[in-house]
Amino acid sequence: MTAKPNPKGSNKTEIIMTIASKRGFFYPSAEIYGAKAGFWTYGHLGTRLKHSWENTWRNYFLSLNKSYFEIDDCNIMPKKVFEGSGHLKHFNDPLTECEKCHFRFRADQLIEDALNTNVGGLDETALTKIMEDNKLICPKCGSKLLPVKWFNMMFELKVGATGEDIMYLRPESAQSPYLAFKREFEALRKKIPFGLAVIGKAFRNEISPRQGFFRLREFTQAELQIFFDPDKINEADNWDFVKAYKLRLCLAKDVNEGKITEITCEEANKELKIPKFYAYNMAKVQQFYLNKLGIPEAKLRFRELDEKERAFYNKLHFDIELDMDTLGGFKEVAGVHYRTNHDLGGHQEHSKEKLEVVIGDKRFIPHVLELSFGVDRNVWALMDIFYREEPERTLFTFPAAISPIDIAVFPLVNKDNIPEVSAEIYERLGKEFKVFMDDSASIGRRYRRQDEVGTPYGITVDYDSLNDNTVTLRDRDSMKQVRVKVDDLIPTIKKLIAKELEFEKAGKAVVAKEKKE
Ligand code: GLY
Repeated sequence: MTAKPNPKGSNKTEIIMTIASKRGFFYPSAEIYGAKAGFWTYGHLGTRLKHSWENTWRNYFLSLNKSYFEIDDCNIMPKKVFEGSGHLKHFNDPLTECEKCHFRFRADQLIEDALNTNVGGLDETALTKIMEDNKLICPKCGSKLLPVKWFNMMFELKVGATGEDIMYLRPESAQSPYLAFKREFEALRKKIPFGLAVIGKAFRNEISPRQGFFRLREFTQAELQIFFDPDKINEADNWDFVKAYKLRLCLAKDVNEGKITEITCEEANKELKIPKFYAYNMAKVQQFYLNKLGIPEAKLRFRELDEKERAFYNKLHFDIELDMDTLGGFKEVAGVHYRTNHDLGGHQEHSKEKLEVVIGDKRFIPHVLELSFGVDRNVWALMDIFYREEPERTLFTFPAAISPIDIAVFPLVNKDNIPEVSAEIYERLGKEFKVFMDDSASIGRRYRRQDEVGTPYGITVDYDSLNDNTVTLRDRDSMKQVRVKVDDLIPTIKKLIAKELEFEKAGKAVVAKEKKE
């Protein structure tokens, strides 16, 4: 049988969505009542995949500096927070409404779909003019569209028995470290750069969320806010480690052609005037994707956003984009944002609390460099990028360190003490790994089922196991098998997951009945 090419576009989206809902990665929230767009439930496998991503992120970014820490905070915040941050005034999307059927659309998306052009960053007058000049009509009923107005994307809540307190669901986790900055800075090292991370929920009332699991109304962010001295923006402690490292940039001027410039951090600093502190953190973000998550280099780029496109609080903004078949090309999964003193300055002014620091004889409001990641988008990207089709199976080739399940245990038969020995192995491994017992159907079907959800290793307990205390260890990607002593399983699998051992060297080779092609 010849291999089918890996599918692209909507076909691939449908396949991944089907696996995701059938096998328990994610599915629409409250679907038995008719789900609302933009709200999703993580199933048991999706929760593990998400947690693996989050733990990888946490371990990596918090270890970049001894003064980086993590906090956790409320999702609901007082109105004044968003006066201080500027979200009440500026966190808007352009909205147009059909005069007749009153369906509401995001105006920039409607124009981009109709005219196949980029209108990011245009104001409401310019968008209305484009709609009028091109005689755009309601895609639902063909009637006239009303002029564009701004729509604030925050969810408003009435809090208390009489609903007298207006509060908001936070639209970004970032505000939490700004609000906590003073206390944490005092409680900790009083040194900058000082980092506060949050992995938590954020909420946006998207006008018409599309792209399935990629654009959500309730979502998780992993964000690190790094507070630093603006006079030292052109300094980075470990610059020598990254200065020759090449960044993959798509500069604002090259976005239409999608041209990628590979440039060292040193060149980015000298020629493009990207400050060293910013370039250093870009390198660390790129290394996270390539080295920790195993994303192929060609699938990653930093896209520069120009002044019109950037969020209202940013002075310098590169998105990290990954190339996904399901979304038709490069799409944003994270961003590196230079937010200046916009947030601390705004909160100092509105709260009247001093948020300055004193370092030596200098008193100042720290500036912020934000490393911001959409966790759910990253989960989708993993599923898109690591999905494979082969003649006899589909699989996710997730790196072993982030797979939802590390090892599946397969008792060959359900008799003759094999289930008992398998249960013992399951218990032993379960203390160290995420293990799944799969004991129904033929062994071939069980392999396929675990391949389909990306389990990197399988252990088969058979009649030989009863005699010599060995099991078969199977590798997902190559389908190769080796025989390993039960007592050696834990150290062997640890080394395999850490990529310190080649699979072929993990034990005595077995001639497997399965064939890859
Ligand atoms: N905190 C940045 C963002 O939400 O995009």
